[in-house]
Amino acid sequence: MNRGFDRVLGTDVVVVGSGVAGLTTALAVQGRRVVLVNKGSLGDGSTWWAQGGVAAPISEDDSPDLFAADTIAVGGGLNDPSAVATLSAGAVAAIDRLRGRGARFDMSPGGGLDLGREAGHSVRRIVRTGGDATGAEVSRALTDAAARAEHITVVEQLFVADVVLAGGHAVGVTGRGAGEEQVLIEAAAVVMATGGLGRIYANTTNPIEVTGDGLAMARRAGAKVADVEFVQFHPTALSAGLDPMPLLTEALRGEGAVLVDDDGVRFMVEEHRAADLAPRDVVARAVWRRLRAGRKVYLDARDAIGEDLPERFPTVFATCTRAGIDPRRELMPVEPAAHYLMGGVAVDLSGRTSVPGLWAVGEVSRSGVHGANRLASNSLLEGLVFAEAVADDVAAAAPFELDGEARPPGPEPDTDLDAVSTLRRVMWDQVGLVRTRGGLTDALATIEGILSRLPAEPSEARNMAEVAFLVTTAASTRTESRGAHYRADFPLADPQWDHSLVLG
Ligand code: SIN
Repeated sequence: MNRGFDRVLGTDVVVVGSGVAGLTTALAVQGRRVVLVNKGSLGDGSTWWAQGGVAAPISEDDSPDLFAADTIAVGGGLNDPSAVATLSAGAVAAIDRLRGRGARFDMSPGGGLDLGREAGHSVRRIVRTGGDATGAEVSRALTDAAARAEHITVVEQLFVADVVLAGGHAVGVTGRGAGEEQVLIEAAAVVMATGGLGRIYANTTNPIEVTGDGLAMARRAGAKVADVEFVQFHPTALSAGLDPMPLLTEALRGEGAVLVDDDGVRFMVEEHRAADLAPRDVVARAVWRRLRAGRKVYLDARDAIGEDLPERFPTVFATCTRAGIDPRRELMPVEPAAHYLMGGVAVDLSGRTSVPGLWAVGEVSRSGVHGANRLASNSLLEGLVFAEAVADDVAAAAPFELDGEARPPGPEPDTDLDAVSTLRRVMWDQVGLVRTRGGLTDALATIEGILSRLPAEPSEARNMAEVAFLVTTAASTRTESRGAHYRADFPLADPQWDHSLVLG
């Protein structure tokens, strides 16, 4: 029986999204069939774009405890210590598994992994490929492995519209394929691995497909959502009129590049004792304040890296060259940009959400590992480590009867480009690096207006507006400043807010 759908698939586990978290989950599931769905092509999403690397306590002067302490030090008191312990203890094994799956990393002349340094890390611990192309290599290795894996069926070009519920239990997903094909995938376990929501902001480093779909779908299915006010803004995106904005990796500053204003002043020296390697939120707000005051801000890699730039940072060099800038001899103009969501669908250490049958992993989830601010190069790692736990858990999921409640998705509604651009602008202006009650109230009114005009049928535009509403609601509720969430009207951390903000 096809229940009114053009195509019905049955599987044990359906994984939505094929970045590092989705691919690793699909690969790690033992003894069960997996359907791995992507709305574009296998491997689309933010993973491929990641320049930083994967943090792991590998060197002799490092340890899981030191790594955990660094992770917690930037998290604004909201990290879940058991999630952090899982991450730091699982990092080295995650790198070994990745190498086993075919990923190649930069090696030092002595034969060990060549470890880089980034802000907030006490020691060198960033495992990289090609200097600044780690995400592309992780994505390549995992997509190759997934394409070869016999237990995985890859479905591309399928926009997953909603989670199907039967008696409050997730039993599959509905989707819209090419030519408006209506698809139902029935599964014992549904795993959201759709990444973040950077696209809701006018300035973002995220690729265009990162529209908050999984967060919106999980919320519509009734899942609890936590800490979504904590959106990380990267301080150094290349300011060259491009959308998405090319990232200029923090590893440049790790290797000595510095931020300067248009008078050539190294302003981070007076902002923080760690200067250019201060926590990301501190650096991003320092850049933002100067831009808002009409100044310009640049990243200067001329002395620290200079002629070595093409070899050590080929992605950055190619990006700058395309924009007509030679970073060996010229300053790189920068602006902050939305980069990563610390909060998301609330999950336990096995990735279980509050909806039975529904799991979430990677950036779409809130495991508590990042707290209010994420340490650089902990994002790919989170996907790698927590996917293994999710895979173990879903492998034991029992099938649940679908009782005829699935509704085929309607045709794709027209995208209201004006609404999307208004949404992205208001999020950037009012729900960005510096927030106030007035700005957040205006933003909520604008988002509600957009939601009331958009067709109810699931679409990227609708998902963007729904997750923008969640972020703005959470940002209005948290009347304090902590980590990446900064309220100009409540500029200090408030001990009464020393806890997660759960919606739903
Ligand atoms: C970067 O390369 O600066 C970004 C790394 C990250 O977001 O973890």
